[in-house]
Amino acid sequence: MKTVLSVMGARPNFMKLAPLDRVLRDHRDIRHVIVHTGQHYDVAMSQSFFQDLAIPQPQYDLGVGSGSHAQQTGEIMQRFEPIAMAERPDLVLVYGDVNSTVAAALVAAKLGFPVGHVEAGLRSGDWTMPEEINRVVTDRLSSLLFTPSRDADENLQAEGIPSGRIHLVGNIMIDSLLHALPHARRLDAPGRHGVRPRHYAVVTLHRPSNVDDPATLAELVAALEELSAKGPVLFPLHPRTRRRMEEFGLGAAGANGLRLMEPLGYIEMLSLVAGAALVITDSGGVQEETSYLGVPCLTARSSTERPVTVRYGTNRLVPSRRAALVPAALEAWGRHGPPGKIELWDGGAARRIAQIVCP
Ligand code: UD1
Repeated sequence: MKTVLSVMGARPNFMKLAPLDRVLRDHRDIRHVIVHTGQHYDVAMSQSFFQDLAIPQPQYDLGVGSGSHAQQTGEIMQRFEPIAMAERPDLVLVYGDVNSTVAAALVAAKLGFPVGHVEAGLRSGDWTMPEEINRVVTDRLSSLLFTPSRDADENLQAEGIPSGRIHLVGNIMIDSLLHALPHARRLDAPGRHGVRPRHYAVVTLHRPSNVDDPATLAELVAALEELSAKGPVLFPLHPRTRRRMEEFGLGAAGANGLRLMEPLGYIEMLSLVAGAALVITDSGGVQEETSYLGVPCLTARSSTERPVTVRYGTNRLVPSRRAALVPAALEAWGRHGPPGKIELWDGGAARRIAQIVCP
């Protein structure tokens, strides 16, 4: 019996772990242990995803909470180390690019446990993003690198990672999306929110580069207020974004069509995104979900670690300025592309990873 230990901590980890947990749980020769670092802890940021994605209660919850990068990463390392030593896993799986990912990978690698990185090889080339540092370091520490797309393989090869460690398995986010889509369609979130399919926009913004600077956030909110003349703009707020908007006194007046909302669960968000005329985001996963669904997406960033979404044609990078964002949004509004055509984004990524983990 092999022990595979998965470490997750933040919202974008949960949809990457869920499909793999389902496959590993069915495997007779594997014991799958889940550790939640507690990087995200609000019910809306964490527990609601467990319910939507049917993730079992984690065996360990480290309860680290928020803090500076050093505090958070260090706290996760200190609390994870004794668990890794007690469990002596045959493999530690880490997901994506958040602080929990790099912290767990460092602990495991130094204890001599092999690390598998799910969603390896993505690169934005922007070293000011904490996630880029997390991605590069985690990949360097990993002995199994599970990549979502060919550009990721090329990035890893260019960094000198031996080809034998790199496994192109496809995009595991899409496994979760396909699993949840029938449920999301039945939920009819547009109807529940009183908006007509393909006549509204959905927005998510939470990157420090967009929300921590008052001038940038003011430009973004002004753009959304202007866009809301075209149709309702639904904006579920990440806690960081809500706090900044309050601090900077933004969005309080509330232009008619701009709706500030609480963070949404996975299925409700998917249901809204699937029916949208346009999505504006700075998230990584949302760029991929819109690509798969053929929904036009504007990414308010200067770079993306997911260039395949831009090449595919649904996603476009736009500067975080009103003068750039509004015309781009009006042009992209309702211009859907064909859904579901990217190589290996097919719902089979978890199965392919499991075959490599336990042949
Ligand atoms: C983290 C990830 C980011 C990912 C994002 C998804 C890192 C470096 N960043 O960013 O890559 O895209 O998650 O959401 O790991 N907060 C709450 N409740 C929570 C969680 C956070 O109120 O449950 C607030 C706290 O004030 C906290 C702030 O949000 O300080 C930021 O949280 P943190 O986990 O540090 O980073 P995110 O911005 O969520």
